[in-house]
Amino acid sequence: MDWSDDLSVGVTEIDNQHKRLIELINKLHDAMKAGQGKLVLETTLQELAAYTVYHFQAEEQYMQQFKYPRYSSHKVEHDAFVKKVTDFQKDFAEGRLGLTLDLMKFLKDWVKNHIKATDKQYSALFNKSGLA
Ligand SMILES: [Fe+2]
Ligand SMILES: [Fe+2]
Repeated sequence: MDWSDDLSVGVTEIDNQHKRLIELINKLHDAMKAGQGKLVLETTLQELAAYTVYHFQAEEQYMQQFKYPRYSSHKVEHDAFVKKVTDFQKDFAEGRLGLTLDLMKFLKDWVKNHIKATDKQYSALFNKSGLA
């Protein structure tokens, strides 16, 4: 999965965070493909989960700061994704679920769709508020 211009939200700082997020998803995919051990996969998953939380908080802070009217529904999407990832993390650590191509596809599709359909809606307000 590559970042491309059609994923740009028009704010460099946030585009860079999205690029890093995609990098971490690719890192997890590569580790899975290479048949890395459980500990490596757990560590990589943890890195992805932590960065996701960091990124969502950064967006939420700007949304609140700029009084974004769609903040609540945007945050609901973030919270649901974090719950999904942390639930999976727990199930994986406890041996109830494995890392699969289906899960990788879910992560990639979610991030791509969320950026395109939900994140891009704040672009105009963020730009107007001085972020570029
Ligand atoms: Fe985002
Ligand atoms: Fe978002």
